Amino acid sequence: MLKKFSQIALLLILILALFAFNWKSSGTLSTYSNSRFLEDKLADVSVSYALDMMNEERPLHYIMNVSDDSARMGEELVKFGKLKDGSTSRISKYFLCTDCHNQQLETDDPADESPERVLEYSKKNNIPFLPASTFYGMFNKEHWYNGDYAKKYGDLVKPTRDTLFNAIQLCATQCSQGREMEDWEIRSVMHYYKSIELKVCDLKFNSREYGEFTAYMSSNNKKAVELLKSKYNQINDAHFGTSEIPKIEGYEPSAENGEFIYKQGCLHCHAVGRNITNFDLDDTKLTHKFLLAKKNKYNSFSVSHITRYGTYAISGRKQYMPMYSFENMSDEQMLDLMFYIEKKATE
Ligand code: HEC
Ligand code: HEC
Repeated sequence: MLKKFSQIALLLILILALFAFNWKSSGTLSTYSNSRFLEDKLADVSVSYALDMMNEERPLHYIMNVSDDSARMGEELVKFGKLKDGSTSRISKYFLCTDCHNQQLETDDPADESPERVLEYSKKNNIPFLPASTFYGMFNKEHWYNGDYAKKYGDLVKPTRDTLFNAIQLCATQCSQGREMEDWEIRSVMHYYKSIELKVCDLKFNSREYGEFTAYMSSNNKKAVELLKSKYNQINDAHFGTSEIPKIEGYEPSAENGEFIYKQGCLHCHAVGRNITNFDLDDTKLTHKFLLAKKNKYNSFSVSHITRYGTYAISGRKQYMPMYSFENMSDEQMLDLMFYIEKKATE
């Protein structure tokens, strides 16, 4: 009891300090940068730690402390598909997790992961614009394969809805078209996820909310949890589109956004030398002319179709293209992309 109390007191101090931090800093941390102790401690306050302090029920994948060794192995599995020491075989011959998933925050406000916000943040920070959700904060989600993934794939994703462990396995075998991962490999990836979970300092509170939050932490756990959870999304939702070219009254597409989506999205996989697909794309007029010519064909070479449907893995040809749901690319952004292609094809 006493231990719990002192933990709460420590957490409160940290959070108040954090508050001072955010409040003072418009980009600089100079006032407090001398205090290494504070910085180190603040970095430790993860969202799952804060929830645990407030007696929130622990999820199945709960991990108290990151094991640095496991997290490193998990990171190697994610980034190289195998351990660097060569002691394991590659999870997938075709893909690495990083082909489809980023590893860093994709938004400046975890409560808003809309494709607009993500695009803006990604442009600023030069982050790939990918069809799957980032691993940063994956640890803090509560359900996986949501929305249309759940509807469309039904029984296949059922065991993954509540279990991060199973979600990883499903993606290794289905999304990555690879072998089954061993239990220790999945656990390593979970430690890696834990090491890149959301920190309280990633969340955007205004000063009034922060005051409320810290007050609730000592008086009303339920309210504190509610407030904390309103600052990030508990799921990655997904809604699928159709081949149709979007029509948005009065929308003026942005070639700049389109260029970013093309280069940091499409070329992330299709650039020559990436070896993820045999279908190479580049930024030349010829390529854009090819894509433009397919615009109204509604087959797998027309951009609006391929982006919303992707392609399927077939036996003997396992590379497939994952689709972009509306949560990962808005209709406006689709128009931006098509506008850029048209501009480059005709300039
Ligand atoms: C070819 C693309 C691709 C590759 C490679 C891939 N994934 Fe995925 N993954 C997806 C897509 C698409 C989804 C569903 C959409 C999403 O991420 O929200 C997904 C979903 C997930 C989810 C559930 C996310 C959620 O919130 O519902 C996890 C966990 C996951 N992948 C882990 C992995 C791991 C670990 C690897 C590497 C071993 C991997 N993925 C490789 C495309 C991929
Ligand atoms: C995560 C990797 C990835 C991303 C991102 C991606 N693609 Fe693909 N794409 C693939 C793969 C894999 C294939 C299958 C091609 C093959 O068989 O080698 C493919 C196939 C295609 C094809 C050819 C379809 C066919 O029938 O052969 C087109 C056109 C295409 N992609 C366009 C795009 C466009 C436009 C974007 C950006 C919005 C994009 N791709 C983003 C991986 C990706």
